[in-house]
Amino acid sequence: MNIYQPQKRTIMKVTELNYDTKVFRIKVSRGFTHQPGQFVELSVPGIGEAPISICSSPEEKGYIDLCIRRVGSVTNAVHKMTAGDAIYIRGPYGVGFPLDSIKGKDIVYLLGGLGLPPVRGHINYVLAHKEDFGRVTILYGARTPADLLFKHEFDDWKKRANFLVTVDAAKNPDGTPCHWDGCVGFGVALIDKLTYPIKDAVGIIVGPPVMYKFAIKRFKEAGMEDRQIYVSLERLMKCGVGKCQHCQINHKYCCLDGPVFNYAEVKELPEAI
Ligand SMILES: Cc1cc2nc3c(=O)[nH]c(=O)nc-3n(C[C@H](O)[C@H](O)[C@H](O)COP(=O)(O)OP(=O)(O)OC[C@H]3O[C@@H](n4cnc5c(N)ncnc54)[C@H](O)[C@@H]3O)c2cc1C
Ligand code: FES
Repeated sequence: MNIYQPQKRTIMKVTELNYDTKVFRIKVSRGFTHQPGQFVELSVPGIGEAPISICSSPEEKGYIDLCIRRVGSVTNAVHKMTAGDAIYIRGPYGVGFPLDSIKGKDIVYLLGGLGLPPVRGHINYVLAHKEDFGRVTILYGARTPADLLFKHEFDDWKKRANFLVTVDAAKNPDGTPCHWDGCVGFGVALIDKLTYPIKDAVGIIVGPPVMYKFAIKRFKEAGMEDRQIYVSLERLMKCGVGKCQHCQINHKYCCLDGPVFNYAEVKELPEAI
């Protein structure tokens, strides 16, 4: 069997989240399984392939959700598609976020921008099994109010978790001012608003590359050990299966050993964080 051969799938539904991001529900077999944090290689014939994280919970069967921001050739082509159209995927690939091994523990998610989709399936799984986990905190920041993703789930997350949200600036994406009566400031600063100790919690960080150093520093100042912290690292990918070396960070392959890494495992790698 050719490992690069994608499977033809059907788009079941398209949901527009904001001006540049949509969620595509893709029909898969009921036997399809994934770990939250894993990705698929999504392709459009004649255009190319792109790695995209699965953003639905592993408990949702018969489909997967992909949250896609329009940035380049593949994502622009996918954004033109509608329900009923065919699309191609291979995977799931990579290592996802831990679930069983963190049962009973408090969890603090620190997410920036497009860092929310890879973790959304994990959040929704954990919230559906709250009795198995400790206190759940979701700290989420985006550039502007229009960049916030999955706003329709915020009320539910507020009811079931300690959910704090912020934007870098109360502006429209074009830089003009907009109405926003919520918190303004970088996502990392939301850690200061927590009113309970997080030193024993599991910390999950996903966001733009610039966020990681600051976020890890704040988690460590709050008393977390390196091994309590998980990060998802994105690198340019081609094959997705550990063959082409495009995604290499020293001796680690993001597509195979990651994208989710325990921080203790990568902290000494010079180009990782
Ligand atoms: C493990 C992993 C998971 C990912 N998960 C997701 C996800 O869930 N959702 C998601 O949306 N993305 C995700 N990505 C990122 C996504 O794979 C990349 O953005 C990918 O390059 C998009 O493919 P493309 O062909 O649309 O863009 P490309 O054509 O490859 O463009 C890549 C970059 O080049 C720049 N670029 C391209 N064309 C132009 C242009 N005309 N003008 C200005 N700049 C341009 C853009 O900045 C763009 O980011 C993930 C990446 C990895 C590694
Ligand atoms: S993308 Fe080819 S080795 Fe990771």
